Amino acid sequence: MTVVRTIVVANQKGGVGKTTTVANLGAALSARGHKVCLIDLDPQAHLTMHFGIDPMSERAGMYDVLTADTSLAEAAVGIESNLTIIPSVIDLAAAEVELAGAVGREQILRDRIDAKPFAYEFILIDCPPSLGLLTLNALSAAREVLIPLQPHFLALQGLGQLLETVSLVRRRINPDLTVAGVVFCMFETGTRLAGEVVRDVKEFFASARGGETPWSDARVFQSQIRRNVKLAECPGYGTTISHYDPSSHGATDYNALSEEFLAAFASDSDSDAQVDADASAVCAPDASATSASDPVETLTGGGEDAPEHTETTETPAVPSPNAM
Ligand SMILES: Nc1ncnc2c1ncn2[C@@H]1O[C@H](COP(=O)(O)OP(=O)(O)O)[C@@H](O)[C@H]1O
Ligand SMILES: [Mg+2]
Repeated sequence: MTVVRTIVVANQKGGVGKTTTVANLGAALSARGHKVCLIDLDPQAHLTMHFGIDPMSERAGMYDVLTADTSLAEAAVGIESNLTIIPSVIDLAAAEVELAGAVGREQILRDRIDAKPFAYEFILIDCPPSLGLLTLNALSAAREVLIPLQPHFLALQGLGQLLETVSLVRRRINPDLTVAGVVFCMFETGTRLAGEVVRDVKEFFASARGGETPWSDARVFQSQIRRNVKLAECPGYGTTISHYDPSSHGATDYNALSEEFLAAFASDSDSDAQVDADASAVCAPDASATSASDPVETLTGGGEDAPEHTETTETPAVPSPNAM
């Protein structure tokens, strides 16, 4: 059976390269022969528009998937062979409001993905610039988080809050969630600030190695996405960088990222297979007693925070922007 790898591209800061990464990394993976599904979970529908789909159209989209019985397959739109998108159409913002009182509201996307096994190798989810219910649905459904960062001192400020949210989701809803890594976007090669931010972020993740946090295996991808105006132009033509300008830096960088990503996936899969084999050797035949998660109906605004939990929920100490 194909392993579906569900990756959420998240950062609550806007304009850091989430949508550009989902579109162009997704297209680069599909060009390498992998079946890829992109999910637009942002009511601003930038990913949807990136592929020339009108977000005001009457077609089914993520709103219907989250609030009605529409399956992901029914809402899917084929872009090219191996590449599919589930668009965000007009009402997705309303879904956040409509679902506010629903039981299990942050697990709807996960249920949808699980309901009908999806014939994709990679599902990449584009998130809105917030840590609201839509992003929580993505974090609950995904196995990994990919964090685009701009090497900018303000970019670091939000990282701790995002990591704290990932920790919380892992503890309460999705015990498999990990941070796959950070990719630097809109990189200004040769500037001192960019170099300092990269160094600090690498040090932060290196210091977490071997620990218990969801980011203890996170990597800082070597492939950095340089600032390249072609990347900003291609959505206007409803296409990705590899079609728009295959010789641009943007195309080169996303191709390199996709190769690095696939290599990382291959090595993770090898070590996962080893862990699975070890685990079944140790705990077979009775795995039924392992209920590691403590699902709660609410993560946000419910007032039932976690004082009864012994684990701390401190904001991770990310590198201080003041150091720069
Ligand atoms: N590497 C890059 N070089 C130049 N422009 C970029 C690059 N990456 C993204 N952009 C542009 O910057 C803006 C914000 O990027 P986007 O991917 O939409 O961020 P987010 O989804 O995090 O809000 C968009 O106009 C996009 O086209
Ligand atoms: Mg976006």
